[in-house]
Amino acid sequence: MSNTSSFIPEIHLEPLVDDPGFILLSDLGFEPTAYSPIAASKPFPLFTPEAVRRIRAEIVDHETLANHMFSDDNNPCVVRGHCPDKARFTYNAWTHDAVKERVNQMAGIPITIVYNYEIGHTNIQLGPRGWAGLKAEPDMPSAEGNLAVDAEIEPTVYKVPNWHKDSYPFVCILMLSETSTFKGGNTFIRKADGTNLVCPLPPIGHAMILQGGLLDHAVSPTSASQERLSMVTSYRPSDPLQTDSCRLNTVRTVSEVPVLHKQWLDYRLKLLAERATKFVQTSDSQHLVEEMDRFIREQSNFLQESMKQMTDPVERVSTDTRGHFKNWLDAQAPTVVA
Ligand SMILES: [Fe+2]
Repeated sequence: MSNTSSFIPEIHLEPLVDDPGFILLSDLGFEPTAYSPIAASKPFPLFTPEAVRRIRAEIVDHETLANHMFSDDNNPCVVRGHCPDKARFTYNAWTHDAVKERVNQMAGIPITIVYNYEIGHTNIQLGPRGWAGLKAEPDMPSAEGNLAVDAEIEPTVYKVPNWHKDSYPFVCILMLSETSTFKGGNTFIRKADGTNLVCPLPPIGHAMILQGGLLDHAVSPTSASQERLSMVTSYRPSDPLQTDSCRLNTVRTVSEVPVLHKQWLDYRLKLLAERATKFVQTSDSQHLVEEMDRFIREQSNFLQESMKQMTDPVERVSTDTRGHFKNWLDAQAPTVVA
């Protein structure tokens, strides 16, 4: 039985007609990693306009913005941690088997969402109407822009994330804005020789997979006359025996930390349990002592790293874009949401 939050592939999954292809690590001058020789997918269709409208509706809900908006000196405005409680359709979309299959196909290897907190992280750059312009229907930006209105918007919420590596090995970046008249807004990937690869801008509803934990990348600024909403869902290799390179350094300053830490520890300990099960199934009785010695050392390091990621200082500093939004919301009385 379906309801308004049900993800129905026949309605919400955009068909994949052609294979868009990959950008290889060797194309960028890097060696293949243990995970994959693929640096990124090229943009591929993922969600239909109706699915995009539903996902946007769950982001721009004022209660969600007032409770799930975060910012720091590298992320001027993000909405995170709203899945599944405040965004059931978004959660159902990313966790549907048909979407998992599309993501795995475009990643080139089986990958798994790290945990719910990393479903639907949304970077927001406001358009000319500021907070009032955040709607479920995507803006159709004019090619000319509107500089007079641009000047009235808080400059810090124009920006998009700057050069960085992600905390997780793989990200799926979904475009939620109309990009046909975009100026800028491209994803840049730094090559081994220090030059940049400019990735084609995905059309609305399209996505790309990136080994974002490995590759330095950034988004170029767009005109302040254009809104830009992009959604990032983060993944790790599905194989529990792969080295786990997940970190928390880029997300702790833009998260409800106790919630993030609980999901982080749950996932780390479940992964350890999966590894222990594999060890029991595959260990060789002739070499058990040596194999057990190696297992203990590797998993001890894994547990110590799990702790360090929660306690080591991070360079980033939280900022208060949420306060900027709440001030605007208060000024909209009597339509205030508590
Ligand atoms: Fe990133």
